[in-house]
Amino acid sequence: MADHRPIGVFDSGVGGLTVLREIHRQLPRESTIYLGDTARLPYGPRPLREVKQFSFEIMRFLLERGVKMVVVACNTATAAALNDMRKAFPVPVVGVIRPGAEAGALASRNRRIGVIATAATVRSHSYFSNVKDINPAAQVWERACPKLVDLVEAGQAHSSATKAILRSYLAPLIGQGVDTLILGCTHYPLLRQPVEEIVGPEITVVDSATTTAAATRLIVEVNRLENDRDCTEHELYSTSPTEQFECIAERMFGAELPQVRSVRLS
Ligand code: DGL
Repeated sequence: MADHRPIGVFDSGVGGLTVLREIHRQLPRESTIYLGDTARLPYGPRPLREVKQFSFEIMRFLLERGVKMVVVACNTATAAALNDMRKAFPVPVVGVIRPGAEAGALASRNRRIGVIATAATVRSHSYFSNVKDINPAAQVWERACPKLVDLVEAGQAHSSATKAILRSYLAPLIGQGVDTLILGCTHYPLLRQPVEEIVGPEITVVDSATTTAAATRLIVEVNRLENDRDCTEHELYSTSPTEQFECIAERMFGAELPQVRSVRLS
């Protein structure tokens, strides 16, 4: 059986595009619909129950557009609502935390792993639990970095102010002797270069984009959900005016970028 319906992907903003890009790379025959909930960004400082409510609204939006599965390309929404979404909706739902934890647990040699994430993700301790499920001998330090999402969304990823803030967030993790740093927010791969400059070559920096796309590919394959048509279509939506979103997306996707449409969720 084949299935030409698109894969739904969502985040609070541009962060999930790091996952979308990898899905396009690993599943070039699949159509996608992406929604960035920029009107209500950032999710990180909000209570988990509010993020869950937003996630449910976005799931309904994607299902109305006929998606065959959904990738929650947001760690905060994954922490807040993954299991509830799986219970409530009739399509497979993939989160980013398990794949990110796997990448980190497998990369570490000294079993000392640092995680940077939003305040809500850190409060959920989902990275701690997922890394421990994979390797109970690992030690995990989670650090909330509340300023980073706004800086990325503002296109400030490479400014000297951002670098100074990153230095202060990363110092305690470096001090713990971690050899692996998990970027536990999908916005953070857009900060990979300054992060790597600060932590140096001794610390391996991993994110969940590659492993989440690999998990998505596996689910498409084992459930026989592959698109059997030759053409693919990609749609991009954002919940506020699209200018800033478009600017960052264009840098990431270049000429292949589909037009960004503005949408209101009720
Ligand atoms: N990119 C998201 C995450 O992975 C959300 C960040 C935010 O809106 O605070 O957690």
